Amino acid sequence: MAEGTAAPGHVLLVGPDEAASEWEALLSSMRWQYTRYPSPEGVLLRLRDSSDVDLVVLVPDAAFQPYAKLCRDVKLDPRTAFVAVVFLLPPVFFLPVIGPGCRAKIFASGADDCIQLPAPSQEIQVRLSNALHSKKATDSLEDATSVITSLANAIEGRDKYTRGHVERVSAYCVELGQRLDVDEADLYALRLAGTVHDIGKVVVPDFILNKPAPLTEGEMQLIKRHPIAGCDILQPLRTLQIIRPLVRWHHERPNGTGYPDALSGSDLPLLPRIVAVADFFDAVSTARPYHPAYPPDECRHMLQHAAANGDLDADAADALLRILGNPTFEPVAAAGSLPPVKATAP
Ligand SMILES: [Fe+2]
Repeated sequence: MAEGTAAPGHVLLVGPDEAASEWEALLSSMRWQYTRYPSPEGVLLRLRDSSDVDLVVLVPDAAFQPYAKLCRDVKLDPRTAFVAVVFLLPPVFFLPVIGPGCRAKIFASGADDCIQLPAPSQEIQVRLSNALHSKKATDSLEDATSVITSLANAIEGRDKYTRGHVERVSAYCVELGQRLDVDEADLYALRLAGTVHDIGKVVVPDFILNKPAPLTEGEMQLIKRHPIAGCDILQPLRTLQIIRPLVRWHHERPNGTGYPDALSGSDLPLLPRIVAVADFFDAVSTARPYHPAYPPDECRHMLQHAAANGDLDADAADALLRILGNPTFEPVAAAGSLPPVKATAP
């Protein structure tokens, strides 16, 4: 592997020397930093380990399938899906090796562009620049998610009783979503909502969050504003629209006694029901200003009781009981193993 000069874009140039070497001069002329890989081996790990790569340029030889697989793996992994991937398709004499419909296969693998060679250098430069531009635009969207999750963590930090709460709720949400067969986009929403669901507590004064005594009616009303406040905070953020219902409705109850909208039955979707179950369980199983951490058996009993009353979704509560019955599940460890949140939903 060889390093080029520092530049506004960082490219992994993947292909055997005889196929890829001519593109080094092109990338150098564009002042992009590049790293050479002679084959797809090791590229995915490199992308997972570091977020400094903007673009992967694949220059396949006769062994085409490993390149298509790499592209598919990059695009399916939430940790790397935001990296742009461009194929430089070999000249036509390679096509019998690759087979008919190769361009369709390349795009089906998730590639951002496929440039048939030979092509004018100027066109290649423009199309690589376009792919890089798209990736940079995605990065700026990711910033919105990073800011909002940082804010959520900062707000959690104000409440000395809930340290680690959002990570555990996020881990429970993902586990529950997998048990309840939600799709990838909904798993993404659950994971993010687990972190962000209480962001509206920014409107609640510290002395109320940390009050070691029962709240007054007025204080309780102030606390109950946090789901709508959180939903309003997310309103201008286009990439976070998918989690607004989860933030707004995480204190709703299937029996209609929750807040702020008193939804019930089919009006209350599954995803906020899942967040509510995760939030409830973490609240009873950890110490709060107004109660100690309840013992595990009592937490399970409280979960069953709440589900029987219609305060929690019965299917989600049952799924959590099964998760808790797995001796290998550890919510903090599970939260730590989650990939970082990206703005691009699967
Ligand atoms: Fe809440």
